Amino acid sequence: MNLPEGLITALKNANKALVLTGAGMSAESGVPTFRDAQSGMWEKFKPEDLATPQAFRNNPRLVWDWYADRRENILEVSPHAGHAALVEMEQYFDSLLLVTQNVDSLHQQAGSAEVIELHGNIMRSICSETGQMIDDEWIKSHPGRPPASPHHKHGLARPGVVWFGEELPEGAMNRAMAEAYNCDVCFSIGTSTLVQPAASLPFIAHEAGAVVIEINPVPTSLSPIARFSLQATAAEALTAIAAGLAQHK
Ligand code: OAD
Repeated sequence: MNLPEGLITALKNANKALVLTGAGMSAESGVPTFRDAQSGMWEKFKPEDLATPQAFRNNPRLVWDWYADRRENILEVSPHAGHAALVEMEQYFDSLLLVTQNVDSLHQQAGSAEVIELHGNIMRSICSETGQMIDDEWIKSHPGRPPASPHHKHGLARPGVVWFGEELPEGAMNRAMAEAYNCDVCFSIGTSTLVQPAASLPFIAHEAGAVVIEINPVPTSLSPIARFSLQATAAEALTAIAAGLAQHK
């Protein structure tokens, strides 16, 4: 794809990069975006109604099974060229911090140096009462949908993700905010920019004077303020950007 004029120059002039990714980043790997996640028997449920502590309290089996289904999908997919391009791009900045709303570990699998997971990780399980981690061996060796928790007599295993209405992992958001205030360039990739507080990061970066680059085939509320709004997929745009940077070393 052709990149807009001035984009590579703006990146060349930047030292600190912040990259925020959302479900659209994983779409080309075969993970449905969050707001398109429902197929088959799940079509009758809205994801927003399953990803809450209330839903788990009301029907732990339903929520556990929904996450089990998504885990199975994620186990079968691999990072795509856009994930690899983000790893390549690290060499062009003094620092590039990757902050993701995704819970699928695809950035880590691709080899990104440091990934802040704002919404946890779907492969982990935690105790519904204490929040403590539950190891895989326990989950595998204990039947139940969900299995009981080893940490609390009334506890159940639940996915180690952040649900609507819950706090983000301690420190993760603070680190991301500090970087948003400090970065020279901020990418917002494959996110509908709807879910707070993650959605605030590129707006904070913009307010603080950073160049904001959005990559999304569909415009969002961020598009009007983004210096560059690339209506393209993550793989298309990021491979073009990595190639552009390599050419202008
Ligand atoms: P959404 O599903 O809300 O948005 C996905 C975005 O990706 C949309 O704006 C699409 O246009 C865009 N998109 C689709 N395919 C793309 C592609 N190939 N390349 C680039 N962009 C593409 O997902 P998020 O914004 O990540 O949190 O949702 C944020 C949070 O909402 C999720 O982390 C989840 C949910 O609540 C929790 O569960 C706490």
